[in-house]
Amino acid sequence: MDKVIITGGKRLKGEVEISGAKNSALPIIASSILSTEECILKNVPLLKDIQTIQRLLECMGARIQRDGYTLNVNAKDLKSCEAPYELVKTMRASVLVLGPLVARFGEARVSLPGGCAIGTRPINLHIAGLQRMGAEVEIKHGYVEVRAKRLKGAKIYFDISTVTGTENLMMAAVLAEGVTVLGNAACEPEVVDLANFLIKRGARIQGAGTDTIIIEGVSKIRGDSYEVMPDRIEAGTYLVCGAITGGDVTVSRCIPSHLDAVLMKLGAAGIKTEVSSDSVRVIADNGISAVDVRTMPYPGFPTDMQAQIMALMAVSRGLSVITETVFENRYIHVPELRRMGANIKLQGNDAIVEGVKKLSGAPVMATDLRASASLVVAGLVAEGKTEIQRIYHLDRGYERLEEKLSRLGADIVRVS
Ligand code: UD1
Repeated sequence: MDKVIITGGKRLKGEVEISGAKNSALPIIASSILSTEECILKNVPLLKDIQTIQRLLECMGARIQRDGYTLNVNAKDLKSCEAPYELVKTMRASVLVLGPLVARFGEARVSLPGGCAIGTRPINLHIAGLQRMGAEVEIKHGYVEVRAKRLKGAKIYFDISTVTGTENLMMAAVLAEGVTVLGNAACEPEVVDLANFLIKRGARIQGAGTDTIIIEGVSKIRGDSYEVMPDRIEAGTYLVCGAITGGDVTVSRCIPSHLDAVLMKLGAAGIKTEVSSDSVRVIADNGISAVDVRTMPYPGFPTDMQAQIMALMAVSRGLSVITETVFENRYIHVPELRRMGANIKLQGNDAIVEGVKKLSGAPVMATDLRASASLVVAGLVAEGKTEIQRIYHLDRGYERLEEKLSRLGADIVRVS
């Protein structure tokens, strides 16, 4: 199995271009199910998770062609409305086909995702929303089976802010009869990106990006072309890579306003940043001060950046408290960072990180995408070699990671 070997201690310098957002591309690809017309999707990153949703749509009967970063998706002749366990277990975002399938075909059979490395992650709120819209739901043999002649607009309030839950119900509501109001909706930029694509195709959606989204159902929507926005988590990760190595890194082709919470924490940690219209330069020449971080739904600090900022705090001056409020078990990187010499104590949802002068390279592995990213961040500054195993997690969310980091001057290689 492939692994990544990093020899730490190189100061990163230069420019890195950000790829299209994985978490936008996934619902946008799923939304092509809503129409019989072709969708031409640009800036779709080359990632394992994208291949997974592509395979899922193909096994339902969609025709998909990739040309570089452009994906042509035609869901005209979809034959099956089933998302099988084999695919859903490798990527729980496969559940994003549920809303579009029920909206267009009146039925769907989707494997329940089950637990994953970062928590139980149920989809009860997706299901409750579809029920409010008149769907009949049965859980059978590990699958959720949903049926509805035509979904009806409804007022739906989410108990917890859920990103894919908001996206699923927004897609379902696009073709429903009447008006749907989603209250306590997720405000993440990925929700807005999906809404913009749907609106371009003839959907009537207002309020995406706020906690109340109003969708007026229409009888059909078109296919169209769309460019996926840049990945804010990839951008944030490279900013942290620049910061931890005392580097000077420009992260280009990004949307800086999506990074406000991350930039504020980097600033509080004494790291200078320069923001332009589509890039951020990080200049870290004065060490790292400890700061406290609390993850929250957008516009709060993203849980998908928690592990990377923890690696940064592991070599800061002082004590920082990192609080995870979105997922109940998102500290699987902690034992691995400890093996590299980090001083981290866990107390419930808090990680208390006491900065150390140096980390030391070690063989490590993680069972989650962002946890793996934090080990890369730590490896860049650790003394000696860090060998990261199970890198298929990195391949799920970071396009050409070794190439991008090597260009910035990191000593990183992938070996089989
Ligand atoms: C999405 C992102 C993921 C990110 C997460 C939080 C995608 C493909 N993935 O995941 O990278 O870490 O948002 O920003 O976009 N919950 C329930 N019931 C539900 C749904 C969610 O209890 O029906 C809970 C979850 O267990 C979690 C919280 O709500 O504690 C937020 O999860 P959610 O926003 O749904 O995460 P995802 O959409 O799966």
